[in-house]
Amino acid sequence: MSTHEAVGVALLGAGTVGTGVAQTLSGKADELTRYAGRPLRLSGVLVRDTARKRPGFPPDVHLTNDPTTLTGAADVDIVVEVMGGEQPALGCIEAALRSGKHVVTANKQVMALHGPELLALAAERGVTLAFEASVGGGIPIIGPLVRDLAGNRVTAVNAVINGTTNYMLTRMAKQGASYEDALAEAQRNGYAEPDPSDDVDGRDAAYKLAILSTLAFRCTVREPDVYREGIRDLDAADFEYAHGLGYVIKLLAASRLQDGAVQARVYPAFLHEQYPLAKVDGVYNAVELEGDLVGWAMFQGPGAGAAPTTSAVIGDVLSIVRASTSGGAVPAYPDVRERLPILPVAELETKYYLRLRAYDKPGVMAQITGVLGEMGVSLASIIQKEVPEDAGTPAEVVIITHKARESAVQEAVRKLEALSVVYGQPKLVRIEDGSA
Ligand code: NAP
Ligand code: HSE
Repeated sequence: MSTHEAVGVALLGAGTVGTGVAQTLSGKADELTRYAGRPLRLSGVLVRDTARKRPGFPPDVHLTNDPTTLTGAADVDIVVEVMGGEQPALGCIEAALRSGKHVVTANKQVMALHGPELLALAAERGVTLAFEASVGGGIPIIGPLVRDLAGNRVTAVNAVINGTTNYMLTRMAKQGASYEDALAEAQRNGYAEPDPSDDVDGRDAAYKLAILSTLAFRCTVREPDVYREGIRDLDAADFEYAHGLGYVIKLLAASRLQDGAVQARVYPAFLHEQYPLAKVDGVYNAVELEGDLVGWAMFQGPGAGAAPTTSAVIGDVLSIVRASTSGGAVPAYPDVRERLPILPVAELETKYYLRLRAYDKPGVMAQITGVLGEMGVSLASIIQKEVPEDAGTPAEVVIITHKARESAVQEAVRKLEALSVVYGQPKLVRIEDGSA
């Protein structure tokens, strides 16, 4: 880091998070200086559109759309990347690290796809790549994982780590909001990704689970290693059944280290209403970890939005400045480049909710339960709603299974779909109560 009195900070991105960071750097300048031991100065800001007015930014701030003027500049010590997306963000981070700059990023996509190599590059250059804001918004989770829990062998992660979908699912379950309205609200609040399909299709949660699993299990887990389903197919009936059966629907992100292999998955799941993750509502996120020393530990807080994310970014900036000001080593991360086998979701064992429509004729239920029995899937309960006898409309059947193997359940679903008495595609949601 330079010996100039002020620490030069370049901001790549001036959107929801970038604006929060810029406002905090100027609005809390005195407090931050006292804590860091040196003032922090905004050296420049990368945006796409330099002509646009930027309320919240100092009027004389240097705006540019050329990242090279910031990532290699002599007066920049720390590059804060909050532009998002894989490229050009990845190229900017690499250029900054190669120029000997510390980097703070909120970019889960870059970290989930290239984290281990970037961390190795940072270590080689003797600088820090910090990424607390990439998972769980304002929740301190990366720091605790790599520092405070370092003595543990962590073997399981269960999390609700997408603020947008958690906000949407809460609004849909508790206030009966429509999917479209709930998503529009999440976007207005600044929670959603620039392309919200990353949120609703579970990709954002998969990026975050890959990062958490990499640090927890100390091996490379990338986003494509994570089995993923989103929330688009849920409908009002699923929320009603979940509620009636004592469950809450969450977009669950869960991974396990099992016999030297990793299993990681993101999908909507029925969580028992008493399970702590089921009680995490709105934009709040939570991460549960199981370590051999600590046991189960849970971290909870706001998972998205300008201020919580700024909290994580500024925390990373301050810890880098304080370490270098006091002559200590800058924060470093373990080598996580080892690869372990990835277990397919087909090997999962859990309980299942199955909703299908079947013609209400004699023998139909026997055919349905016969298929499940043939596949070794044991039933815990069956609900069938009565339909008028002469209407000819299919009746809705909901089946809850005991713990079963995913491959067997998937095969049973294919066989059920092929039955002439079953109408349309059966809906499958996993049920997890923390013991699966
Ligand atoms: P955003 O509001 O869309 O802002 C993105 C900013 O980056 C904009 O200022 C944009 O410039 C600039 N930018 C994007 N691509 C660029 C390019 N190719 N060249 C130059 N500038 C470019 O995004 P955000 O919500 O602040 O999110 C930023 C990052 O933080 C993402 O990685 C996101 O996943 C992460 N994050 C966000 C949250 C949250 O709650 N929003 C929470 C945690 C982490 P213009 O202004 O000119 O368009
Ligand atoms: N779009 C992300 C979310 C932002 O909703 O959780 C925080 O990473």
